[in-house]
Amino acid sequence: MTRILMVCLGNICRSPLAEGILKSKVDSSLVFVDSAGTGNYHVGGLPDQRSIDVAKKYAIDITDQRCRQFSVKDFDDFDLIYVMDNSNRRNVLNLARNDQDKNKVKMILNELFPNENVDVPDPYTGGLNGFEQVYQMLDKACVIVAQNLRL
Ligand code: 4NP
Repeated sequence: MTRILMVCLGNICRSPLAEGILKSKVDSSLVFVDSAGTGNYHVGGLPDQRSIDVAKKYAIDITDQRCRQFSVKDFDDFDLIYVMDNSNRRNVLNLARNDQDKNKVKMILNELFPNENVDVPDPYTGGLNGFEQVYQMLDKACVIVAQNLRL
């Protein structure tokens, strides 16, 4: 079983989409996917309605997800930790205890644009189009993540 964690700031916009999209591309008996936020503003809540809506547009249901905060234990519980942006990466790396923890942390868009450290833009304060753009970026990145898992 490979265990993959998607991480953003709020765990209501980007990482719930990344979780739902990757789950739709992998065999759930082989790959466990979850998501978390570095912040605690929305713990226990549903994903943002705009993320729910854009996922639904592509036949992905993310309404079973509930927001949780990233914790140090996640370094033990997951093999790969995909962060959405450079700020998430700093926040997660600040909690790393050793190089093994640090080596688990990857920028998700580096799957598409290796070593460029491109951010998935935070759509929270933007409009609906932001969520569509985020969906498309994450969908392309998750195609590659899923391919890598099958190698
Ligand atoms: P996310 O977006 O990190 O993609 O879930 C955000 C959601 C909420 C907040 C920030 C970012 N917030 O500050 O409440």
